[in-house]
Amino acid sequence: MHNRSDMMPLAQRPAWLALKEHHSRLLKKDLRTLFEEDPDRGERMTASAAGLFLDYSKNRITQETLRLLTDLARETGLPAQIERMFRGEKINSTENRAVLHVALRAAPEDVIMVDGKNVIPGVYAVLDRMSSFVRKVHDGTWTGYTGKNVRNVVNIGIGGSDLGPVMAFEALKHYSRRDMTFRFVSNIDGTDFTEATRNLDPAETLFIVCSKTFTTLETMTNASTARAWLKASLGSDDAIARHFVAVSTNTEEVRRFGINPENMFGFWDWVGGRYSMDSAIGLSTMLAVGPERFMEMLSGFRKMDIHFRSAPLPENLPVILGLVSFWENSLFGCATRGIFPYDQYLKRFPAYLQQLTMESNGKHVTMSGTRVGYDTGPVFWGEPGTNGQHSFYQLIHQGTRIIPSDLIGFLHSLNPTGSHHTILMANLFAQSEALAFGRTPEQLKEEGVSEDQIPHRVCEGNRPTNVILAERLTPETLGALIALYEHSVFTQGTLWGIDSFDQWGVELGKILAKRILSELESPKNPDLSHDTSTNALIRRFRSARRQE
Ligand code: F6P
Repeated sequence: MHNRSDMMPLAQRPAWLALKEHHSRLLKKDLRTLFEEDPDRGERMTASAAGLFLDYSKNRITQETLRLLTDLARETGLPAQIERMFRGEKINSTENRAVLHVALRAAPEDVIMVDGKNVIPGVYAVLDRMSSFVRKVHDGTWTGYTGKNVRNVVNIGIGGSDLGPVMAFEALKHYSRRDMTFRFVSNIDGTDFTEATRNLDPAETLFIVCSKTFTTLETMTNASTARAWLKASLGSDDAIARHFVAVSTNTEEVRRFGINPENMFGFWDWVGGRYSMDSAIGLSTMLAVGPERFMEMLSGFRKMDIHFRSAPLPENLPVILGLVSFWENSLFGCATRGIFPYDQYLKRFPAYLQQLTMESNGKHVTMSGTRVGYDTGPVFWGEPGTNGQHSFYQLIHQGTRIIPSDLIGFLHSLNPTGSHHTILMANLFAQSEALAFGRTPEQLKEEGVSEDQIPHRVCEGNRPTNVILAERLTPETLGALIALYEHSVFTQGTLWGIDSFDQWGVELGKILAKRILSELESPKNPDLSHDTSTNALIRRFRSARRQE
């Protein structure tokens, strides 16, 4: 339940008004000035938790900004909302659901009640079943239909049932079994399935069909194609039981598809799709790195959860990250945020964060259904460093838009190779410095640059960055890093007063696609009642199909 003050529109809150006034004063100060006025800020504006270190000093904020932002966080009821989430209250109000990804990595002795039942024993029961299944696959007790060991794992899922698993597999590849092949099929485009299975032996292939609802068109179509692919090779429906497992909340649909619920790993409606990679949706991750590493990952999540729940707001890593992002988005109007991991293993992390952040906070009304009067979720995007530097960083340095970014790096490489890691980290630090302080006309003049060249070479700086560092990329660090962003998303959503845990916007496209699909499949029916553009596109496709 929300109290009256929680429901007050953001624009009327005293802390918001104070923040706006403060913002208009701070606009006059660039990062150069802020560092001149407060030279120690680089050492002070930092925070650490769960093995992660955050330097947020190169954002256009002062101690006063942080104080006003934390005032706003308190006014919007953030501490109480955090408690509500951890206690299992139904804070996803438009779906009337609890939001309990934190229960997926709680300690065994923790108690979290949902509808009068402690959910933690159920979480551990599924983890135990996953571990025992993974051990059987690894030691060859679980074989394929013909008796061959499982050497290939193909995860079929989309959205949260794909992005988390594929990101985690890539991130933890260093720790993964190199004698097994892992593939991920998400797209309805048949190319995805065809390429993912091209050189695999069906007799050695295990499909994990991941779908919270088990009704998602893409996943169910790919799963049916997989079933046909397998049967065509192994010749019997009986093979399905040895080559298909399901991860879902929907036992009935799993059974209807033909997978024995004994081969199903469950989760719960209080786990959002984009918050599910540490549930049974992570089965492919566990198969890749083993149960012990998977539990280490959960322990990293848990450490960040405990910090988020207990640390004072001004020292709270996810809260600071969320407040800074809120400040840059809603006050400075920065519409996008770059995510640049300086680690090749994190190459899919920006894509994963896109769903986490944009499906969560891409909302236009508040909890009470009124239109927001400010910008909500920024566009998240990114690529690993240093690749991005030779591509789009130019626009970040000298373009007309300000793009705040998070640079993520590790002190130690998992693959020490000559001086590669030192060069990599030199680049991370250099980008953060260059983006903040740029190159002034005076500096260029001193360097002997000719007058006509100076305007082209000036970098104004004043581009904000966060730098996030950890010792090395371990399963535990990965868990902490994901939890950091999960909670920072929640922090921002709470300030905006929106429901970060529903996703009604994606439904319209699904409904229309079903209608158009039937029109493409029965081209004899000439009646099309869409707009003229959509009608013409459909006719063009029908006519191409007639000529095939
Ligand atoms: O279409 C969006 C969405 O509902 C995501 O929220 C979710 O992660 C994805 O589809 C997949 O859903 P499911 O796991 O039910 O197949």
